[in-house]
Amino acid sequence: MKDTVISEDIIYIGADDHDIGLFESQYDVPNGISYNSYLIKDEKNVVMDTIDSRKTDEWISNLEKALAGAKVDYLVVSHLEPDHAYNIKLLADKFPEMKLIGNAKTFNMLPQFFDIDLTDRKVVVSEGEEINIGKHTLQFFMAPMVHWPEVMVTYEKSEKILFPADGFGKFGTLDTEEDWTCEARRYYFNIVGKYGMQVQALLKKAATLDIKMICPLHGPILKDNLEYYINKYDVWSSYKPEDDGVFIACASIHGNTMNVAKKMEEILNEKGAKKVVVTDLARDDMAEAIEDAFRYDKVILAASSYNGEVFPPMQEFLNHLKGKNYQNRKVGIIENGSWAPSAAKCMKSTLEGMKNITISENVVTIKSTMKDEDISKLENLATDILSK
Ligand code: FEO
Repeated sequence: MKDTVISEDIIYIGADDHDIGLFESQYDVPNGISYNSYLIKDEKNVVMDTIDSRKTDEWISNLEKALAGAKVDYLVVSHLEPDHAYNIKLLADKFPEMKLIGNAKTFNMLPQFFDIDLTDRKVVVSEGEEINIGKHTLQFFMAPMVHWPEVMVTYEKSEKILFPADGFGKFGTLDTEEDWTCEARRYYFNIVGKYGMQVQALLKKAATLDIKMICPLHGPILKDNLEYYINKYDVWSSYKPEDDGVFIACASIHGNTMNVAKKMEEILNEKGAKKVVVTDLARDDMAEAIEDAFRYDKVILAASSYNGEVFPPMQEFLNHLKGKNYQNRKVGIIENGSWAPSAAKCMKSTLEGMKNITISENVVTIKSTMKDEDISKLENLATDILSK
């Protein structure tokens, strides 16, 4: 059930987007996404971020209703990415007395997006600085590179609410009934994953605050059991595996390599693997494959050779992992090749550029189709991968 009630003075004014299809032009979002924005009503009225151009009308209507004739005194700009910042100029034009709150980096970058005369309109805040707006006090903490340089989070001291920008965000609209963890994890690793160190730094700051509620820029408002969400972020951002299991990522041209991957799944299950997941990199959601690679502690890559290299869906997958600082995992390799197998060499070469990746020495080479004599090689790889 959509729950956007925050408090008497803090009102949700964001919108659900069911029809975007591809968020950021690359992430499939079957259940859409929400662009969250909030109004804090007090002696000074504060808007916490604007929203995406796709929902401007709904947002303005929500804002006007919540204001009930009052005006906006401040706009807090947590993040300049257009899914939150698109309507900054519109709001600045609508309320000419309104001031914009951001940090030095915000105001360096803002003119790249908007032509707004900021003379006498910008309030530059730095780490830990506070602004009192009546009963409420906003305190600002910098979160550089989570996942843009200008990102900052806001802590409202009287109601103990954290506004963490994209942090704790999730794919899926607010009226979608679904598990938080799965789509929050897919969101985290694909959008923020590269910046684990910076997220860890932010979590250390958050640990000093008494937080009763988290109001992110995407996904549900988090009200209960906050420790659960914070622990997930701690595991994800420290690149520790979350679950004991084997993720088999397969890039197969005609299905022969997939047959091997399925056989490997069977062998791993027979040997007592706690969980085995197989993904078809050529057809399944790439963002989910990336999520699962981070989720499990062991990975097996199975790919056909192609053009003297590796079948491109596998290379694309590995490039994404490298870009997102993939590390601390044990990896097995299965290659297929009909005349000059090249996939293993190519996969190894990309893996060697990653931190703390252990590649099993039991590399399995299949020539075109799996034969009986290949089974023992697969069993050896399975044994090695499952060994501690
Ligand atoms: Fe939701 Fe980085 O924007």
